[in-house]
Amino acid sequence: MAERFESVDDVTRRLRTVDYLADSSISGVVFLADRLEKPVLVEGPAGVGKTELAKALSRYLDRALVRLQCYEGLDEAKALYEWNYRKQLLRIQAEERGAGWESVQEDIFSEDFLLARPLMTAIASEEPVVLLIDEIDKTDQEFEAMLLELLSDFQISIPELGRIDATTQPVVVLTSNNSRELTEALKRRCLYLWLDYPEVEHELAIVRLHTPELSETVARKLVELVQQVRGLDLKKPPSIAESIDWARALLLLGADDIDADVFRDTMSIIVKHRTDLDTVAERVGVKLSDVNAPL
Ligand SMILES: Nc1ncnc2c1ncn2[C@@H]1O[C@H](COP(=O)(O)OP(=O)(O)OP(=O)(O)O)[C@@H](O)[C@H]1O
Ligand SMILES: [Mg+2]
Repeated sequence: MAERFESVDDVTRRLRTVDYLADSSISGVVFLADRLEKPVLVEGPAGVGKTELAKALSRYLDRALVRLQCYEGLDEAKALYEWNYRKQLLRIQAEERGAGWESVQEDIFSEDFLLARPLMTAIASEEPVVLLIDEIDKTDQEFEAMLLELLSDFQISIPELGRIDATTQPVVVLTSNNSRELTEALKRRCLYLWLDYPEVEHELAIVRLHTPELSETVARKLVELVQQVRGLDLKKPPSIAESIDWARALLLLGADDIDADVFRDTMSIIVKHRTDLDTVAERVGVKLSDVNAPL
């Protein structure tokens, strides 16, 4: 089991050992969340490292990652627990004739007949885990309300069984793409981390971490171009995930520079809307073919 984080810099240092490059705002929130034992709500655009932060924490802490992927219509039965109806039915059928309903009922609503879903698995686990509640903004407000009991008291109420308290306390990370405003009540229980597109040097470090074989000059040019593309008014600006993909593609193609031709042939890796492609070709591609223009 990994030791506790000693300071904000310590978080940065240790997450680096598991291949996650945190800037001071990420490390600051992670440090406080660890000390205050509060969940972290990470919000931000797609592909900026929200999910990866939870994965990196699980790697560093050497804890299992329990992941609840949220989607529209997700309910308690899929997130929390469900009665195992088939097993209950078999139990009732196996019961000798004449056995009292009272005793059967008591039996089939016991823990043996529960199917634990991610939230329950996370708090009932013998060993503490990292609980990732991914893309919480995809669910509705009722679901959020149900989460509140869990996040503030680490307990679950099951009508037939009563209260189930956490055996161990998980480190909790929630992520959101900001597709809807989350409730104040949920935000109040969490520490908030806004993850945005990184600065040039930080993104360069991330790209180089994932593709160390790519030369520094090409990597830097790539990051500068991506940042320029982000500056345009696009439907979907490229994320870190796309920068990494682009770097991998350039490596595969053996490109030792990103000139106008290479850019034109590979820009669909970072730009994925037809209208965006036109804008980017016109605004960035053309500039690349003009050798005298500054990048
Ligand atoms: N700080 C970082 N250090 C190392 N790798 C990073 C970092 N940030 C992002 N990445 C890499 O970028 C990619 C995208 O990250 P991730 O999947 O966590 O994005 P996300 O924010 O969860 O996106 P989405 O909203 O689409 O789910 C991953 O391959 C991840 O390894
Ligand atoms: Mg994600």
